[in-house]
Amino acid sequence: LEDPVPIISDPHTRQVLESAAKLLRAGQVVGMPTETVYGLAANALDSVAAKRIFEAKNRPQDNPLIVHVSSLKMLRSMLKDNTIPEVYTELIKAYWPGALTLLFPRSALIPNEITCAQPTVAVRFPSHPITRALITACELPLAAPSANSSGKPSPTLASHVMDDLAGKIPMIIDGGQCSFGIESTVVDGLRVPPAILRPGGVTYEQIRMVKGMEGVQVYKKHFTDVAMEQTPTTPGMKYRHYSPEAEVVLVEYGASSDVGSKTSDATTAQYSVILKEIDRLKKEGKRRFGILRTSFSLTAPLISRESSSSLPESQPREVIEFPLGQGSKPEDVARELFKGLRYLDGQKVDCIFVEGISEDDEGLAVMNRLRKAASRTIS
Ligand code: TXA
Ligand code: MG
Repeated sequence: LEDPVPIISDPHTRQVLESAAKLLRAGQVVGMPTETVYGLAANALDSVAAKRIFEAKNRPQDNPLIVHVSSLKMLRSMLKDNTIPEVYTELIKAYWPGALTLLFPRSALIPNEITCAQPTVAVRFPSHPITRALITACELPLAAPSANSSGKPSPTLASHVMDDLAGKIPMIIDGGQCSFGIESTVVDGLRVPPAILRPGGVTYEQIRMVKGMEGVQVYKKHFTDVAMEQTPTTPGMKYRHYSPEAEVVLVEYGASSDVGSKTSDATTAQYSVILKEIDRLKKEGKRRFGILRTSFSLTAPLISRESSSSLPESQPREVIEFPLGQGSKPEDVARELFKGLRYLDGQKVDCIFVEGISEDDEGLAVMNRLRKAASRTIS
């Protein structure tokens, strides 16, 4: 884990990293790629810089930020007694660097503006080479929430960050599409039993395999733990989230406990439920619809139900489909989810239907985000 930072040999990239580091050392904010989603970074030791993050995103004041480090030494410097709690040893060995955020008792080094006065600080050691090189270049831990305007889907492309924050921040580093496409998993190992506060890139199935994590708690729709539902979990989870302009409708028709292994009959049924709902909404005067599909091949092109040849050129398509990938491959769906929501929003549809998937593996994080984005569910 204490391995050296990735060597960035491309001179242009090095120059970009140096300018970004200069801005960050001066208390500015910078949009940066990570393996999960793009982050809006600032010096985690500077309360004024932290305030700039909240301002640019229009983020609620009580939602704490994740701090990103590039070494365990950097982590220790921020912790109470400079010690990493033993409960995390195996998790860190298995999943850092990576899409996993852990809660720690914090030292006084971390300002209240970062943690929103909580006694804990959430820390992640990202694996993306650019993120790690940037943290090392400025020699500072970087606080970074997702780089979207508060309430919007998280950004998985640099252009998404531009769409939300252009004019509000001085720089965005373009690192291409994020490989996970969904945020990190937040684990609180300080409570007994430990709990997953937010499902994410590292799955529940992976975490409970780690020594000491066998009893880890998680909230699933089909796995109801009253205590987990009633205790406030991660502060950010209470806000309306991931919402494009269009109404989002989650379709779980035929989605028993295992949509992943859904038969083609069930997926056809789910699709026809959507088409029927579209017909109903048309009668209410709605005109344009988007469907995020998880039940057909990724190789299929974006298609329109209205054959374009029968329409005059200027007439907009009525139903636009965006393939997220197969429900049986939730990691693909996770990678495309926010991109799909943002794409359809850009198409100015009135309503976005999403075909639900099973809550296995990355499917748990996907469905968690969709339940927050959706204003209603058809099941
Ligand atoms: O993958 C990710 O985690 C991305 C990239 C940029 O690293 N970051 C991200 O940050 O998703 P954000 O701010 O969008 O989500 C942070 C989540 C929120 O739900 C927040 O409430 C929770 O982590 N969190 C932060 N500090 C916490 C703390 N001390 N206790 C409990 N939850 C905390
Ligand atoms: Mg966020």
